[in-house]
Amino acid sequence: MNTLCELKFSSERATRIVVGSVAKDLRELLPEGRVITIVDAEVDAHHNLSESLPESILIPGGEENKNLELAEMLWKELVDSKADRDTFLLAVGGGVVMDLVGFVASTFMRGLRFGFVPTTLLGQIDAAIGGKCAVNLGGYKNMVGLFSPADFVLCDVGLLSTLPDREFRSGVAEMIKSAIVGDSELFELLENGDLATLKNDHDLLGRMMQMSVNVKCKVVAADPYEKGLRRVLNLGHTLAHAVESLTTEYTHGEAVAVGLVWAARLAAERGLLALEDAERVVRVVEKYGLPTSVQIAQEELLEAMTHDKKCDSEGVKIVLPEAIGKCGIYRL
Ligand SMILES: NC(=O)c1ccc[n+]([C@@H]2O[C@H](COP(=O)([O-])OP(=O)(O)OC[C@H]3O[C@@H](n4cnc5c(N)ncnc54)[C@H](O)[C@@H]3O)[C@@H](O)[C@H]2O)c1
Repeated sequence: MNTLCELKFSSERATRIVVGSVAKDLRELLPEGRVITIVDAEVDAHHNLSESLPESILIPGGEENKNLELAEMLWKELVDSKADRDTFLLAVGGGVVMDLVGFVASTFMRGLRFGFVPTTLLGQIDAAIGGKCAVNLGGYKNMVGLFSPADFVLCDVGLLSTLPDREFRSGVAEMIKSAIVGDSELFELLENGDLATLKNDHDLLGRMMQMSVNVKCKVVAADPYEKGLRRVLNLGHTLAHAVESLTTEYTHGEAVAVGLVWAARLAAERGLLALEDAERVVRVVEKYGLPTSVQIAQEELLEAMTHDKKCDSEGVKIVLPEAIGKCGIYRL
């Protein structure tokens, strides 16, 4: 088991992010006492983890299930199974299950401790890290939630073997985002690589995952509660969330890819980013088979963006790239 980062939120709360194997390393990470596991049913169908994990509850993954109804169902299951404040929750699944279980754990009886085993690339490099837990409400993304970090994140690269290509690509979209936010070398590795190599070369994937996690950890450590700097991690997300509120046609990562291209083009138009760098962003997004645009009218997208959490009385805040590896906060 290799520790990538100890991400500190406060003097009492920190997340240990490790790369290892569920079979070999999970036991060491779990606390003494009762553990209830909440597992993405799709993951379980492939990896049969619920047999070996404590007290498993299976739930459906997918964005349409990141809602208060499923949260309520889980709260009731916890009451029925007599969970108490010392019960530890373990979430196994994609970003949706991480966000949902983090939210359920942090609100049940004013907060249970919890740990994550993310099973998508997107979950391992992004969603499981950083303490943001939320569910969608009325079609709007992540409207109800809180900051509450997991005790640990165990990334088992072996679990990614069953991930459909489309979901793997979605994870690559968040990796491209991390590279634009804070690591030009990671961006070059992405430019020089391709989907097949990344899926099959676990050493390369591991190295790139570490670089991506480093970007996120560095930013979150400097601003855990998103008072300022952390907002740069929302690059591509204001448009992505608008897309996701208007159609279910795209995965989160695909919507982020569209948002990255939009932000790069807008930054170039405003003279913030060199045109050549904006074109590099478009090329890398295309290279991994991710979409660069959506068939939604601009007015509709702009209207949806005003519902974003990054909107205040002065309008919508957006993140724009200033170079590959550097971003700033601007107004729409
Ligand atoms: N909290 C954060 O900081 C943060 C950051 C980024 C994204 N997110 C959230 O993460 C969510 C997207 O996460 P996601 O892309 O992992 O989606 P997801 O959790 O919906 O998983 C995608 C699909 O893959 C399936 N799946 C998961 N693991 C699998 C495996 N190993 N093998 C086969 N199938 C598998 C799931 O059942 C689901 O159908 C969004 O809701 C997004 O808002 C949160």
